[in-house]
Amino acid sequence: MSNPALLVLYGSQTGTAQDTAQRLARQAQRRRLRVRVMPLDDYNVANLIAESLVVFVCSTTGQGDPPDNMKNFWRFLFKKSLPVGSLSQLDCAILGLGDSSYPKFNFVAKKLHKRLLQLGACVLLPVGLADDQHDLGADAVIDPWFASFWGKVSTLYPTLSGMMPLREDEPLPPTYMFHFLDDMQEKEEVQLRIPMDQTVPSQSHPFPARMVFNRRVTEPSHFQDVRHIELDVTGSNIEFAAGDVVMMRPCNAPEDVQQFCQLLKLDPETRFTLSPTDNTAVPARLPQPCTVRHLVESYLDIAAVPRRSFFELLSTFATNKLEREKLAEFSSAAGQDELHNYCNRPRRTMLEVLADFPHTTAELKVDYLLDLFPEIQPRSFSIASSLRAHPNRIQVLVAVVCYKTKLYKPRKGLCSSWLASLDPAQGDVYVPLWVKKGSLKFPSEKETPVIMVGPGTGVAPFRSVLQERTAEGRTANVLFFGCRSKSKDFYFRTEWEEMMEAGFLTLFTAFSRDQEAKVYVQHRVRDNGELLWDLIANKNACFYIAGNAKQMPASVCDALKEAFQQAGGVSAEEAEQMLATMEKTASLR
Ligand code: 2AM
Repeated sequence: MSNPALLVLYGSQTGTAQDTAQRLARQAQRRRLRVRVMPLDDYNVANLIAESLVVFVCSTTGQGDPPDNMKNFWRFLFKKSLPVGSLSQLDCAILGLGDSSYPKFNFVAKKLHKRLLQLGACVLLPVGLADDQHDLGADAVIDPWFASFWGKVSTLYPTLSGMMPLREDEPLPPTYMFHFLDDMQEKEEVQLRIPMDQTVPSQSHPFPARMVFNRRVTEPSHFQDVRHIELDVTGSNIEFAAGDVVMMRPCNAPEDVQQFCQLLKLDPETRFTLSPTDNTAVPARLPQPCTVRHLVESYLDIAAVPRRSFFELLSTFATNKLEREKLAEFSSAAGQDELHNYCNRPRRTMLEVLADFPHTTAELKVDYLLDLFPEIQPRSFSIASSLRAHPNRIQVLVAVVCYKTKLYKPRKGLCSSWLASLDPAQGDVYVPLWVKKGSLKFPSEKETPVIMVGPGTGVAPFRSVLQERTAEGRTANVLFFGCRSKSKDFYFRTEWEEMMEAGFLTLFTAFSRDQEAKVYVQHRVRDNGELLWDLIANKNACFYIAGNAKQMPASVCDALKEAFQQAGGVSAEEAEQMLATMEKTASLR
């Protein structure tokens, strides 16, 4: 039997399953196997019937849910129409990542296992059930599971055992080779490519939107910097509805780009082209030729917190004894606690790690940059405006993420800090973006009232729908807004006041820190039972909750149940039932 091509498919929410999948793929490469690795939703599931060897690495999130990047796969796999036995050609293995302190421990991996058996696949070894609560972390299960997987594979494909695997400390070939161009060749400006055709902007073809304004909307003395930003999307073919989100891909800070280039002794202005070492395509986002500056600034996620696979690859370049030992420790299963304390807890970035290992960094071969650093991922923001109120514009409300850990420098959110740093008054600045459907859907029936609870920046999508509904002349709109102080972070105050005056809005505010006792949106919901009962029980109102505070949605639902009991005279069970029905009919989101 010829050697198989291994396919590693993952479903990952926070990146651990992705990192684990990538580590397995590298082990496969060491065994000289052809290997592909990708998120489940990037894979065309219909092709599974033609695969011979697949490993699924899936985490379980929340209450037993699959991660976002495998949701489509999940829906497809459980279709009743899939014939039993359709995967009988497939050898597979399943590794689950979960947390045993949650009731549905590794539910996704277990359910996937059952379903694959049902579809006729041959499952090579017991499902790996990695546990974040384990004393030694998930890797205590993952490493032995990898070993038994390779044991199985070598008995199944005996020709594999005859091949010499690469040594652990020998670097694998890079995915791409860099070819530097000499300075004498004509220079071309590296520019964001503006789509000239009629296609709608997407992840592969973002639209460079000009920033129109970037205003701080919190008082200068307030602890948090929150920005109201407007972007010009004229000529982009972009359309969106209230509740949709805008995706943006940020850039690294100029000082980080500079430090990175210094550490690696790279001249940011040099240009290069890439050629793949196997049949992987060159990333479409990178112009050819490309400058080092463009690559580092807009593609390599040097501000990400590194995981184990980063250290595994980095350690193959280490010649300095001390650094080599430390990197080997961080690469081992036994060193994962230590790695957690070094990186995850203080949120240390890849760039900071490079600075901590200067000898190894100086030895890094540039060809490996795209293997070492992940691509900068797009971020999503709720759109805070409507096209009717602001034609050809997208507005967002962005809280600039900045917090302290034990490290000296404060931690900064890459995208929000980048957006905040852009100043349209200093010249034109562009943000590459596209839009996606959001999970909030608003009623199209003219009479249906909407009740919205959006503390903090959670109010953004509600501003969009309120602008829309105002333009349509719909008046049954209730908003519960919460912030710390009436004078410091009451976003869009004058706009709400105008809407109220014009009869389009009933507003309830909760200023949590303007008095001794905390007042939150849920308190205001509970206190307004009569109105809410009338709108929901008699007028079929839709109820929406958006915001960052973790406990807030649950507290708001509890408050709503209390309001139903007091104002509607229903029992606790009946109130519970009403909420369940609202959720089912999507009139509660
Ligand atoms: P706090 O910061 O004073 O606790 C927007 O961030 C508003 O949401 C703030 O007024 C904040 O109050 C409030 N908030 C924080 N946690 C909350 C929760 N669990 N439920 C409702 N509101 C909350």
